[in-house]
Amino acid sequence: IIASFQTKSLRGKHLLITAGPTFEPIDPVRGITNLSSGKMGYAIAQAAWQAGATVTLISGPTALAAPYGVRRIQVQTAQQMHDAVMAQLASQPSDVFVAVAAVADWRVANASNQKLKKTSDSDTPQLEFALNPDILASVAALKNAPYCVGFAAESEKLLEYGAAKRIKKNIPLLVGNIGHATFGSDDNELVLFDKNGHQHIARADKLTLAQGLITEIAARINK
Ligand code: CTP
Ligand code: CA
Repeated sequence: IIASFQTKSLRGKHLLITAGPTFEPIDPVRGITNLSSGKMGYAIAQAAWQAGATVTLISGPTALAAPYGVRRIQVQTAQQMHDAVMAQLASQPSDVFVAVAAVADWRVANASNQKLKKTSDSDTPQLEFALNPDILASVAALKNAPYCVGFAAESEKLLEYGAAKRIKKNIPLLVGNIGHATFGSDDNELVLFDKNGHQHIARADKLTLAQGLITEIAARINK
C-alpha cells in the first residue's frame, strides 16, 4: 500500500467517483433515502488524490466535508446524479469510474408539489414508483467507457451475489461488503471480484481500505 502512494501510482489519471445516498422527494418536505453515510466513497476520493489522481466526486446528501484536493459536485436525486456524471464525462474523460453511491433504485413517480396534508384519519398517501436510471450501467455501456468499478452492499451470500453482480453489470471490478455492518461505521471489510475470482481486503478503517482498493485499481489500469 505504502509503495503505491509514494510512487503516486495514479499520477496523470482522472477518477470520477459517486458517493453517499440519494434523496428522492415525496413532497417538498419529505423524501426517501437510505443509510449510506458517504464515508467509503469519500475515503476512496481522498486515497485517489493521495495517489496523484485528479478526482471529481459526485455526492448525494452527506454530513461530510469535501476531501482535501477533491472537486465535489453535490446532488440530491438519482436522476441528478446520473446527469452530473454524464455531463462530467462529456466535459472531461475519466480513466476510472468508481460507483460507490447507494443510488435509490426507484423514485416516487407521483411526488407532490405541495406538502401532503392529513385529510382524514383513514386516508394514507398512495405512493407510486418509477425506475431510476442505472448510473453504473450507463457509464459501462459508453463507447470509450472508463475502467468501471462497482460496489455491492449485500445482506447475505456476498460471494455468490458479488460474482454474479459483476458479470451482470459487465464491469471488470466489483467491490463487495456486507451491508448492515458497514453503513455509517468507520471500519469495514471488502471483497474484490474480478475475472480471476475474488480476494479480501482485511477489516480496517475506511481510509486504509480505500488505499488498498486504490492500489488494486492502479495495478489493474497500469498493467
Ligand atoms: N448503481 C448505480 N445506479 C443505480 C443503481 C446502482 O450506479 N441506479 C451502482 C451502485 O453505485 C453500485 C452498483 O451499481 O456501484 C451496484 O448497486 P446495487 O444496488 O448493489 O445493484 P443493483 O443492480 O441495483 O441490484 P440490487 O439493488 O437489486 O441488489
Ligand atoms: Ca440497488
